Amino acid sequence: MEQLNHRLNMEGQNAPESSADLPWEPEIIAFCCDYCAHSAAALAGSNRMQYPAGVRIIHTPCTGKIETEHILEAFEKGVDGILVVGCLEGGCHFVEGNLRARRRAERVCAILDEIGLRGERLKMVNLSDSMASEFVQQILEMVERARALGPNPLKSSRQNESAGNL
Ligand code: FES
Repeated sequence: MEQLNHRLNMEGQNAPESSADLPWEPEIIAFCCDYCAHSAAALAGSNRMQYPAGVRIIHTPCTGKIETEHILEAFEKGVDGILVVGCLEGGCHFVEGNLRARRRAERVCAILDEIGLRGERLKMVNLSDSMASEFVQQILEMVERARALGPNPLKSSRQNESAGNL
């Protein structure tokens, strides 16, 4: 999980500076397992299927390896929506990793609702390696969902904090 934390931190460093002149676009993370989800994403890429540039893919060996704190940390950093993409039920290469991930995602959704961030900002889906168009469809739906919910309120409070520290 050290690796996943590192990836989250590196992604943050590479994020473009926000500009008041640019229209807001939701920032989405798709956590993809290295098996079916990765293959579906790769197939979408080789078929030249498009999705918005604000979507970042983070690979993980299995969705079962994504801990609650990884998801909460990403939201704390200002991400507007997270999609967790794993293998079909019964198809996880770590047997029950995707089932654990689903239970975890449900718990995190409840936490997000409790703290006012809205559970709809997180979604878990199960795909097979050939489901490239479904992969893109799920990404686009999450982008639209985040757009409808508006920017993550933690992002603006972080920006205000940074401005206050100048
Ligand atoms: Fe794909 Fe576990 S290996 S979800």
